[in-house]
Amino acid sequence: MNYGIRAAVLGLVGIFAAFISIPMILGFQKPTIETIQHGPRGVAMGLVYNDADVAKSVAANKVPGYLPQLPPVGPKASVVYKNVQILGNLSVGQFTRLMASITQWVAPVQGCNYCHNPENLADDGKYTKVVARRMLQMTQNINQNWTQHVAATGVTCYTCHRGNNIPVNLWVNDTPKVGDNTGMGMAEMTPGKNHPTTVIQAALSSLPSDPYTPYLENAENIRVQSSVALPGTDNSSIKQTDWTYALMMHMSSALGVNCTYCHNSRAFADWSQSTPQRVTAWYGIRMVREANNGYMDPLAPVFPANRKGPQGDVAKVNCATCHNGVYKPLYGVSMAKDFPELQKVTSSAKP
Ligand code: HEC
Ligand code: HEC
Ligand code: HEC
Ligand code: HEC
Repeated sequence: MNYGIRAAVLGLVGIFAAFISIPMILGFQKPTIETIQHGPRGVAMGLVYNDADVAKSVAANKVPGYLPQLPPVGPKASVVYKNVQILGNLSVGQFTRLMASITQWVAPVQGCNYCHNPENLADDGKYTKVVARRMLQMTQNINQNWTQHVAATGVTCYTCHRGNNIPVNLWVNDTPKVGDNTGMGMAEMTPGKNHPTTVIQAALSSLPSDPYTPYLENAENIRVQSSVALPGTDNSSIKQTDWTYALMMHMSSALGVNCTYCHNSRAFADWSQSTPQRVTAWYGIRMVREANNGYMDPLAPVFPANRKGPQGDVAKVNCATCHNGVYKPLYGVSMAKDFPELQKVTSSAKP
């Protein structure tokens, strides 16, 4: 081989190696990586954790301090105040403690006036107060009616809001319209595929970027695997399968777990080989659907335009809204146990 060709070949090999190895090196995570056995022995259902990431996540998911419970003494809020529709049964002391708490959870910077007209606390003029009233009902409904998911741990406003006016992890409809290919490259197709997703959407994959609308708002069928070996029995398309996988990537990222947290990956569909967490997740999907359809979507006329998505819908709940990358929100510490007024539905009237 003459020198010119050899140099060219070596050069190509070098460029090729650089293309492969640079992303690989950048993609490496610093040790220590630990694998924790999750399923029965011998089935390789390990969960992979990076110690440094776990330490960061533990620090970011601590329960904040909050005011102690007060006894139900003194006059009731319904007697003292003018416009109390949900919390009327609390004593004035208990009511005030809750107001101070929701201020800390949702509007620590703006204070009471984030929801209230300071001239008249009974006034419903601010949209945030109307939303907050519905949020009280949503929280009560989750804690009372979805114990198959939230158990006795329950949720408070803090589970989602974490001191922010709007939770960090939300979503709005991003369903591509059939036939609309504007701005799409050659490889792209309408399901919103083939452009990078965020970690929470579909774990940086090129799967559909809105796995939420079909499953966490609408009730499309998630199951795509054929249950029998014969051809002609499996009617799921590749497109449907892509959506299912996008949802599964979202659920894994939202909880900071691998697929093996819920599935034995040799038989994804088989419930008898799945973990109990998969059942909890099944209820979670239904709970989130109800939160979005029953509470978030109907608030569309209340929210101002700048809070809505490009398709005019309200921002909604997904698995990450509560979980924030952790298998149990706030590592399973219950704040709700100290807020019994958020545990039971006290009024189901819509605003
Ligand atoms: C995140 C929104 C929000 C924040 C912040 C907030 N409130 Fe409220 N407040 C509400 C809602 C919603 C109601 C109505 C509750 C109901 O209908 O049961 C209410 C009702 C009240 C009422 C009853 C008024 C009446 O006559 O009907 C008082 C008093 C009150 N809040 C005081 C406060 C104080 C004091 C703070 C600050 C420490 C505060 N609130 C912060 C949402 C909020
Ligand atoms: C399951 C998650 C979840 C829980 C629990 C929750 N919220 Fe929210 N909240 C949301 C989402 C999602 C939005 C965003 C809607 C939007 O911006 O379109 C929101 C928006 C709001 C807003 C409007 C903020 C703004 O600036 O537009 C207020 C006020 C609010 N929540 C108060 C509360 C209160 C008070 C509680 C507890 C009683 C609570 N939330 C519990 C998910 C939650
Ligand atoms: C937190 C639990 C959880 C995690 C993590 C999870 N799944 Fe799932 N998966 C479920 C549940 C629940 C269903 C069934 C949903 C339903 O029927 O409504 C399901 C269904 C599926 C199905 C369809 C099975 C069928 O019947 O056709 C596939 C395929 C699947 N998951 C793959 C994956 C992959 C791949 C991952 C990792 C990227 C993953 N899952 C991570 C809970 C999970
Ligand atoms: C309203 C807040 C909220 C939302 C939204 C939510 N979860 Fe949860 N989830 C919880 C709470 C609270 C627990 C802890 C229950 C307990 O202590 O056993 C939990 C527990 C779980 C568990 C069991 C963990 C274990 O180790 O036992 C799984 C799995 C799970 N969630 C999956 C999901 C999936 C998947 C979604 C989205 C479809 C979702 N969750 C949405 C609040 C939420």
